[in-house]
Amino acid sequence: MSSPTTGRKPRLAVLVSGRGSNLQAVLCAIADGRLDAEIVGVFSDRPGAAALERVPAPLRWSAEPRRFADRAAFDAALADAVDATAPDWVFCAGYMRILGDAFVQRFDGRLLNVHPSLLPRYKGLHTHARALQAGDSEHGASVHFVVPELDAGTVVAQARIPVLAGDNADDLTARLLPEEHRLVVAVLALAAGGRLAERGDRSNWMVRSCLDHCN
Ligand code: GRF
Repeated sequence: MSSPTTGRKPRLAVLVSGRGSNLQAVLCAIADGRLDAEIVGVFSDRPGAAALERVPAPLRWSAEPRRFADRAAFDAALADAVDATAPDWVFCAGYMRILGDAFVQRFDGRLLNVHPSLLPRYKGLHTHARALQAGDSEHGASVHFVVPELDAGTVVAQARIPVLAGDNADDLTARLLPEEHRLVVAVLALAAGGRLAERGDRSNWMVRSCLDHCN
């Protein structure tokens, strides 16, 4: 199905740095019809990222940040490459490099990230270990709009898992990842369907309510 307003499928650009299991979940959802969208490019700061191998070569773009004069120059090259694919949404799926303000501004309102914690808890790295250390009884993942401050944008929706006695960080990773993948596909389906817009707390409430009905 194509968009009633543009006459084409919603265009999705994906930023990756690692193995790309979230990207794979998106590809599978497109392939079996759960997500009506088109991946128009996969972009990485790590040319060796396994995630890149999950899409055909013409869809791949990568560059090493150290070959650029500074962070702004790398970000500008990345932003130009992403922009050239005319994406409706840009999704950070395990993209491990902080995006500078200029990049964030350029894609403001259509830039999403998945983060492995129940934001606002545990922004940044080592989220599973930090949840365990704090003695949390539940943990999870969040999809949020990206703003210049790290992991601080409006949360769109979250997936939750219980923390069980004896869990270590690997246990949490293994149990959370499938839930994270479901969350990502559900949010991108809302985005692709034109049902997601950043309007402060209200969008948060609207999307949570949709997900409650889907699950
Ligand atoms: C995920 O846990 C995501 O939440 C975090 O990095 C990981 C990426 O995994 N930002 P993958 O590359 O999608 O497999």
